[in-house]
Amino acid sequence: MRLTYLGHSTVLVETKQARIIIDPYLNESPVARIKAADVTCDFVLVTHGHEDHSGDALEIAQRCGATIVANYEIAEYFGAQGAKTHGMNPGGAHQFPFGRVKLTLAHHTSSVNAGLNPIYLGVPCGFLVTADGKTLYHAGDTALFMDMQLIARGGIDLALLPIGDNFTMGPADALTALDFLKPKVAVPIHFNTWPQIAQDPQKFAVDAGNAGHTVRVLEVGESIDV
Ligand code: NI
Ligand code: MN
Repeated sequence: MRLTYLGHSTVLVETKQARIIIDPYLNESPVARIKAADVTCDFVLVTHGHEDHSGDALEIAQRCGATIVANYEIAEYFGAQGAKTHGMNPGGAHQFPFGRVKLTLAHHTSSVNAGLNPIYLGVPCGFLVTADGKTLYHAGDTALFMDMQLIARGGIDLALLPIGDNFTMGPADALTALDFLKPKVAVPIHFNTWPQIAQDPQKFAVDAGNAGHTVRVLEVGESIDV
């Protein structure tokens, strides 16, 4: 399994059988180096409704003929706009051709058009993706929560954890998340996109190392093989 960091919480996951983009946010992202039009993929996984996670999902899914996998409400929302979708909900898993996807809890909100007329799109989620014998955990946007210990039961090879603070866990809580999840490697996400989520990911990596965890900070465009 190869993971490429595309900035913010956006990653491309390449398995033997599929290309999967998680939380596509490229066209409006201040840190992305490619646009949605540059992506080719078979599946689009969306953790929650917020535009910095779902913003390019419809465009990519429609152009590539890719299937959007998300909670039921997000799936219905994009399905009504013409996308191929597969709706799920937390605790549920499904065997796709490339591997197994399970929706996990996340503590956050999930809406689009936040403002006078927000549309609430179900509950926020994370994803456990198991393919090629490896398990990836994308936490989505979330606070720290005790049940991360349950998410870790099957073992996690690579965990993507938000460290930005303000909207999600900050670095201190993400360190505790590492204690709960015990991934072989963790990659920080959801930081330095805007001033409100400015963080020092290298300090997080050092602190995690001192606590016995392995954190790899990926540059935008950089890949890691697990
Ligand atoms: Ni969010
Ligand atoms: Mn977000």
